[in-house]
Amino acid sequence: FNILHFQTDLLTWYSHNKRDLPWRSNQDPYTVWVSEIMLQQTKVDTVIPFYYRFLEKFPTVYALASAEEQEVLKAWEGLGYYSRARNLQHAVREVVEQYDGKVPDDPKELEGLKGIGSYTKGAILSIAYNKPEPAVDGNVMRVFSRLLNLEDDIAQPKTKKLFESIIREVISHEDPSSFNQAIMDLGATICTPKSPACMLCPVQEHCAAFELGVQEHLPIKSKA
Ligand code: ADE
Repeated sequence: FNILHFQTDLLTWYSHNKRDLPWRSNQDPYTVWVSEIMLQQTKVDTVIPFYYRFLEKFPTVYALASAEEQEVLKAWEGLGYYSRARNLQHAVREVVEQYDGKVPDDPKELEGLKGIGSYTKGAILSIAYNKPEPAVDGNVMRVFSRLLNLEDDIAQPKTKKLFESIIREVISHEDPSSFNQAIMDLGATICTPKSPACMLCPVQEHCAAFELGVQEHLPIKSKA
């Protein structure tokens, strides 16, 4: 696995094929944060209109921090998993009170905020702050399971840690934001759960599962 060659192929593809998504139009850590929370349990197409409306109502951490919880929940109506909205407002209030309204760029500080786990932390650090940090969710584990032909059970928490350490090794230090988002787009459009479009894949030549013809058998996931 040639890391530099892989990064070049991935980032070249991304530069020409990246999806035009509203949260990609700026690097404001607050709007990146909102988008990543919405995208955790909800599909991109569903999130888009909610993302616009939410930020129209609550354009800054100050607007969200000072809103009534009921207003926030109303703006979230239709997205479901309302604890995401409650935690987000709680965390934004912490940012206002403890960090003078500035979303932290420190991993430890981010992780201390309500609702921010390893995925959201990595997404904010890489996309908003351009730090070479992994942002591993199920889609990212699928892509890397196939690339490296790894049969580790992605339902196990330690497997996520394994992928995080692998991505620390392979992430582009020139453009960590594009690297992570390229993997997300690859997982959403090419390296899909069923019938992946390997013939269109920009990193096919790096893919161990494709080489062996086992891409449809990966990733391994225990328990329904
Ligand atoms: N899914 C989760 N985060 C995403 C992002 N930043 N871009 C596209 N899809 C995503």
